[in-house]
Amino acid sequence: MLEKVKEVVEKVNKFIPKSEEELNNFRIEYLGKKGFLNDLFISFREVTNDQKKEFGATINNLKQLVQSKIEEHKDSFEVEAESSEIDLTRNVPLDNLGSRHPISLIRNEIVEIFNRIGFTVSEGPEIEDDWHNFSALNTPKEHPARDMQDTFFIQTNPDILLRSHTSTVQVRYMNENKPPIRTLSPGRVYRNEAISARAHCIFHQVEGLYIDESVSFADLKQCLLYFAKEMFGEKTKIRLRPSYFPFTEPSAEVDVSCNICSGKGCNVCKNTGYLEILGCGMVDPNVLENCGIDSKKYSGFAFGMGIERIAMLKYGVNDLRLFFENDVRFLKQFSLL
Ligand code: DAH
Repeated sequence: MLEKVKEVVEKVNKFIPKSEEELNNFRIEYLGKKGFLNDLFISFREVTNDQKKEFGATINNLKQLVQSKIEEHKDSFEVEAESSEIDLTRNVPLDNLGSRHPISLIRNEIVEIFNRIGFTVSEGPEIEDDWHNFSALNTPKEHPARDMQDTFFIQTNPDILLRSHTSTVQVRYMNENKPPIRTLSPGRVYRNEAISARAHCIFHQVEGLYIDESVSFADLKQCLLYFAKEMFGEKTKIRLRPSYFPFTEPSAEVDVSCNICSGKGCNVCKNTGYLEILGCGMVDPNVLENCGIDSKKYSGFAFGMGIERIAMLKYGVNDLRLFFENDVRFLKQFSLL
C-alpha cells in the first residue's frame, strides 16, 4: 500500500497540466469525493498500528502536494486566456477594412466635379443667426417663405438657430471675397421634420455660387447640365421648371432624366421620366447688395442640392434613414466604391 502511495507521489510531482480542463480533472481525481485521497483515508483505518504514523504522514504530504500543484497552475491558465485575447503581436486580418460613408463618397464626387470647372470649397458654421439664414437672403422677418423651411430656433434667443440650408455660406463668402466668385459649400443642415423614408431632421446639402460680370441664366443651365452628365452619365438630360426662392430671381427647380428607366417612366420617377435634384436661380440683386456686392456691375447664379437625395438616386437607396443608422451591412456595400 505504502509503495503504491509513493508511486502516486512521484506521478503527482511530474504532473504539468496543459489546460484548465486538465487541471480540473486532476483536482477531481485526487481531491474529489470519490477521489484517490478520500479512498486512502478510508483504507487508513485498516492500516496496522505500527504503520499508521508513516502512512498518515505520506497521505498528508500527498494531499499538500496535490493542493500546491493546483495552486501553482490555476492562475497561469487565466492569464493565458486573457493574454491570448489581447495578443498585440498578432497580425491584423486585412479582410475587414472600413469604408467611406456613402454621403461622404457623394459629397467628394460633387466637389470633384465642380472643382474641374474652377469651384473651390468653402464652409460656414452650423449654428447661425437670423441674418445669414434668412434676412440677408431676402427673407425678412414675417416673410411667408420662412415657412418653407421648418427651422430649429434657440428658445432663449430667437436670433440664433441651426441653419436650415447651406445658402448661409453664400452670404458669408460674399462678405469676405470679391468677385469673381466660384464656390461650393457642402455641409450639414437641420430642419424640424418628422423622420421618415423621405425626410430627416438632419441632412446634408451642397450650395454653389458663381458671381462675375455678365453671368447669365444660360451659364447656369450649362453648368448644371455638365454636373448632371458627370454625376449620372453622359446620356442624362435635364429639365428646368420655374419655381420660387426668395434669394433668386428667376428661380428654377432642376430635374434629371431618370437613370433607372432612362426616361421611359417607372415607379421611382412616378412615370414622369424625371427626378428632381436641386433648386437654383439668378442671385437676387437684393442679396448681392446685402453682401456688399455691386448688383449693377455683377450678376451670378446659385444652386443648392441635398446630398442624400443625390446618393439615393445614384445608389438606388429608397429609405433616407439608412444613411443615419450606420448598419454595417448597409455601409459594407460601399467599401469597394
Ligand atoms: N436653399 C434652398 C433649400 O434649402 C436650395 C436652394 C435653392 C439654394 C435655390 C440655392 C438656390 O442657392 O439658388 O431648399
